Amino acid sequence: MIEDKPIIPQSSDAGEGPGSAEFSDTAWMDVISAVDKTYSELVAYQERLEHQNAELDALRRFMASVLASVSDVLVVVGRDRVIEQASGSFDKLMGQAPQAMLGHSIDGATDDASRAALKTALDQVIATREPTRLEINLDTPGGLAPLDVHLAPRLDERGKSKGAVIAGRAVGELRKAYSELEDSHLALKEAQAHLVRNEKLASLGRLLAGVAHELNNPISFVYANTHALEKYLTRFETYFDAVQSGASRGALVELRKELKLDRELVNLRQAISGARDGAERVRDIVEDLRRLSAEGSGEDTDFDLVTTTRIAADWIERGTKTPVQITFDGATRLIARGQPGHVQQIVMNLVQNAIDALADTDAPAITITHEERGTQALLRVCDNGPGVPPEIAGAIFDPFFTTKPVGKGTGLGLSISHKIAQEHGGQLAYCAPGGGGACFCLELPKGEAP
Ligand SMILES: Nc1ncnc2c1ncn2[C@@H]1O[C@H](COP(=O)(O)OP(=O)(O)O)[C@@H](O)[C@H]1O
Ligand SMILES: [Mg+2]
Repeated sequence: MIEDKPIIPQSSDAGEGPGSAEFSDTAWMDVISAVDKTYSELVAYQERLEHQNAELDALRRFMASVLASVSDVLVVVGRDRVIEQASGSFDKLMGQAPQAMLGHSIDGATDDASRAALKTALDQVIATREPTRLEINLDTPGGLAPLDVHLAPRLDERGKSKGAVIAGRAVGELRKAYSELEDSHLALKEAQAHLVRNEKLASLGRLLAGVAHELNNPISFVYANTHALEKYLTRFETYFDAVQSGASRGALVELRKELKLDRELVNLRQAISGARDGAERVRDIVEDLRRLSAEGSGEDTDFDLVTTTRIAADWIERGTKTPVQITFDGATRLIARGQPGHVQQIVMNLVQNAIDALADTDAPAITITHEERGTQALLRVCDNGPGVPPEIAGAIFDPFFTTKPVGKGTGLGLSISHKIAQEHGGQLAYCAPGGGGACFCLELPKGEAP
């Protein structure tokens, strides 16, 4: 600090002469006051400087503590990508002592692939003054560390780009968590697909039991009749051999009587028509099955809902051991729009559920009603079983909700059916049964009769 001491001019011989006493009086006063003013200005400036220095120092310490404690990576680079400042987290990640990276190019901190991308992005940010973001890999002693970085231009007070600020966050952990999430999502999806397949297999199994039973009858019919035909063939061969060998007319008449050929001719016709009946029955069953397995090509068509329902209900009924009375009510023809194969699956689920619910009911009965209402084709499947208790009514459409023992129910029937109905632009709901039991209502858009 400059000492606050007045400067007293010393008298000197050099200035003395005629009129010098007058000069020295005013001039010296002026000089002294000017010096005084300058001196006090100097002191004030000095004080201001010291104050600013103290502020700068505090700011520097503050910045240093911020840089040391941010967990994100923060690097300030010049236009030439030389590191001017870096956070402690960056030094630590790079395995360097604090500030050791200052003065080095950021290029050396990344892997080869990131280097070019970072250079391009930095050049662009500096040139356009527009921030951007990208992913880079830092080449650290612990291996490559992926960072999601945000690049912002660093401007001076005149708005000129002086370099860029790189702020980065490690994505390794995030990505790991994400990939774990994705893995478990995939596993879940697979498990779900598996269960849906199981549900389909279960209804296929029930269907096949019905099919096997149904085919058994006509096939044994055909089989028995071909046996009979073989027997008749032998008799006719014997007769034709006799004709061939020139047997007398009398002998032939006798042989015809002995072989009971007249009666066998009638039997032959019956056997042929029996075999044909059996074959036709098999053909009908195959035709039904083909319709059932028409899973839907993905294209919507206009189809008769009543026929579809009848086929589906028939097959479920055939597959059950205890007889259930199924009655059809309402419209006998009702054209709906959608995929009959999928709608059949809904009906099979509803009828199967009703049959399951009727296991302990005397005189079990199911009523299936078709009705046209406005632009909708309605189907109602009602049974006289115990019904759905109110406390579970809100849950029966949930996937995997079942009250059936393991192996009997998957809890997917209603949830899949509900989804199919929605995909058709319709809906499936549990509707008030009225006279006890349970009722499910399916609404589908009406189609146009061909
Ligand atoms: N007709 C019905 N009568 C009584 N309860 C029913 C009926 N239909 C469905 N439910 C109830 O809804 C539940 C879910 O049915 P669903 O989704 O088809 O699965 P699952 O048949 O495999 O149990 C059944 O377990 C049953 O408790
Ligand atoms: Mg079911």
